Amino acid sequence: MKKLGVSILGIAFLVVSGMSVSSAEKPRVDAKALFEQKCSTCHSIDRPKSKKKTAKEWESTVMRMKNVNGCPITDEEAKVIIDYLSKNYSK
Ligand code: HEC
Repeated sequence: MKKLGVSILGIAFLVVSGMSVSSAEKPRVDAKALFEQKCSTCHSIDRPKSKKKTAKEWESTVMRMKNVNGCPITDEEAKVIIDYLSKNYSK
């Protein structure tokens, strides 16, 4: 009986820790893919890739794509993309 309790706990721990690892790493892993998928439908992905902007400028560019040009992303996705662009394509 005692042994069973320990192994159930062990499994629960593995499941919980496995979940927290994947949710912690997901945004970082997905940012590039999300950017390349969402920002290449109207113009080439080279359009943003050829630019260098500050974080503030990327924020206004991405929000313009979203609000004015109609890029279909959520606020959360916009944040991830702004973050990715600010880190990789900054001035
Ligand atoms: C629904 C269509 C559409 C999508 C999706 C889209 N764009 Fe654009 N983009 C445009 C249009 C139209 C222009 C030209 C007019 C303008 O600059 O607003 C443009 C121009 C640009 C420019 C050049 C102008 C500048 O300010 O430097 C950049 C950079 C850019 N887009 C980045 C992005 C990024 C990053 C994404 C993804 C978040 C994206 N675009 C998604 C339509 C789109």
